[in-house]
Amino acid sequence: MLIDPFGRSIDYLRLSVTDRCDLRCFYCLPKGFKNFEEPEHWLTFDEIERVIRAFGALGTRRVRITGGEPLVRKNLPALAARLQKLPGIDDLSLSTNAVKLARHAEDLHNAGVRRLNISLDSLDAKRFQQITGGKLQKVLDGLMAAKAAGFSPIKINMVVMKGVNEDEVEAMVDFCIEHGFTLRFIETMPMGSTGREAVDHYVDLHTVRKKLEQRFELIPGVMPGGGPARYLQVAGTDLRIGFITPISQHFCETCNRVRLSVDGTLYLCLGQKNKFELRPLLRAGISDTKLAAAIRHAITLKPKRHEFNEKPSQIVRFMSATGG
Ligand code: GTP
Ligand code: 5AD
Ligand code: SF4
Repeated sequence: MLIDPFGRSIDYLRLSVTDRCDLRCFYCLPKGFKNFEEPEHWLTFDEIERVIRAFGALGTRRVRITGGEPLVRKNLPALAARLQKLPGIDDLSLSTNAVKLARHAEDLHNAGVRRLNISLDSLDAKRFQQITGGKLQKVLDGLMAAKAAGFSPIKINMVVMKGVNEDEVEAMVDFCIEHGFTLRFIETMPMGSTGREAVDHYVDLHTVRKKLEQRFELIPGVMPGGGPARYLQVAGTDLRIGFITPISQHFCETCNRVRLSVDGTLYLCLGQKNKFELRPLLRAGISDTKLAAAIRHAITLKPKRHEFNEKPSQIVRFMSATGG
């Protein structure tokens, strides 16, 4: 098992397979951003498989594929199929913007991905375009294809922002009840210059909960998954609503995850700089035993918690580098 210096068991790896994205959510990536990782720095599928195999042998059981947008990486379903077979990995999931999902949903399901988390901040096409630069219809087509392919659960991630989409919270609840999706609200984090500008739109999710309680009865709820969302269920429906509150009520004491970026860097916390580079070791032909030791060492570098509130300007990384 991987246990960090604060006694937390690390059994969830978020794997970013690209830092590129086919959208430009204003709170995530700057318009015209070009400073992406060089392809020769990208871990190959063989290198990724090797690292995940090593994590699996050290007790990691959950792997979430992220980006940027993971579906812009070529042949992603083939990678998923390889990861699904690795010893110890029993929960393979994907976080996507769903723009390319309609095309890949069946292949991903056949490859063994079961849980999908999908970003969707607005159900209004014009507004969706303003937030992301993309076309809502493609995402809706992707969502319906995912449902038809049999993914379960499908969780919708909505970053709730004042003056942007806060007025759509109830419409999103109705949409998720209608389609059997789980809904999660996320607080805006000051990741990179874009995230910091977006913090002007920050909404404390307690206010969202209070508003929903005027219309719905919310009762304690649970959901499969290993992330930081705290769930409530809408009484009389199957809908579970998850609240992801890194700013108003952080969840670092129960953190169970680390992140592997496309260039083979392990990031030990979303909101801190602590990292450990695996790529040079992999490319120098490190043995399996030494790779395991390197991973164990990296886990000793995991910090206690993020400091988004105390030091909002310290993280220059854009969210797309680590996929949330
Ligand atoms: P499951 O619970 O396993 O379904 O996954 P998840 O909710 O962890 O995955 P997802 O990619 O959907 O994450 C949703 C959002 O939660 C991310 O985009 C981040 O905004 C936030 N998040 C996830 N992990 C962390 C974390 O370790 N720290 C912080 N501050 N935010 C996180
Ligand atoms: N704050 C909170 N969530 C963010 N995401 C991207 N940037 C931010 C931010 N600054 C979320 C997206 C998506 C996931 C990849 O990360 O909405 O759900
Ligand atoms: Fe792309 Fe996700 Fe960032 Fe939006 S939030 S630009 S979909 S990586």
